[in-house]
Amino acid sequence: MSRIKVHDREFVKSISCEEIAAEVKKVADRINKDYAGKRPLLLGVLNGCFMFVSDLMKNLEIECEVSFVKFSSYQGSETTGKVKKLIGLSESIEGRDIIVVEDIVDTGLTMHKMLETLAESNPASLEIASLFVKPSRLQVSVDVKYSAFEIPDRFIVGYGLDYDGLGRNLPDVYDVVE
Ligand code: IMP
Repeated sequence: MSRIKVHDREFVKSISCEEIAAEVKKVADRINKDYAGKRPLLLGVLNGCFMFVSDLMKNLEIECEVSFVKFSSYQGSETTGKVKKLIGLSESIEGRDIIVVEDIVDTGLTMHKMLETLAESNPASLEIASLFVKPSRLQVSVDVKYSAFEIPDRFIVGYGLDYDGLGRNLPDVYDVVE
């Protein structure tokens, strides 16, 4: 099925689950190499990250841990530009190698604030792995060390990403039809 409807909008398939799997594996291979001999803590940013974290971790061969935080700025398909408070961080990250795992970096405001907040707890290192980045939308400078796909300024759903709560279950990724 290449065309679907989510709520009131039409979407067309743009990235297949096979392409996603191949790119996620490449990101994992880089992390395996860069963190050899270390034990990074992957900090998944809910809700959108859950499929990416799962597939990424299955491809990690190094010792690693996972935890989840929540920090959302989106409602519907328009960014509010407002970033809310970070919740869910129960363990100490001081002296740890942290990889923040995000579904998509859009304006970059969420990740910017996230890095600022986490840096206060003095981790040994702090990097971002994001499945998607929309470079043309960035409003602040954010260094995404591990990104699987750079995409144009289009709203997408699937593989964990939603449009107003729906579409997260789709194995492939779909672009909105304008
Ligand atoms: P940022 O703070 O503008 O970078 O927003 C990041 C968050 O916005 C992501 O974690 C997503 O939850 C959401 N988001 C941004 N673009 C999209 C999209 O195309 N589809 C679904 N969610 C998106």
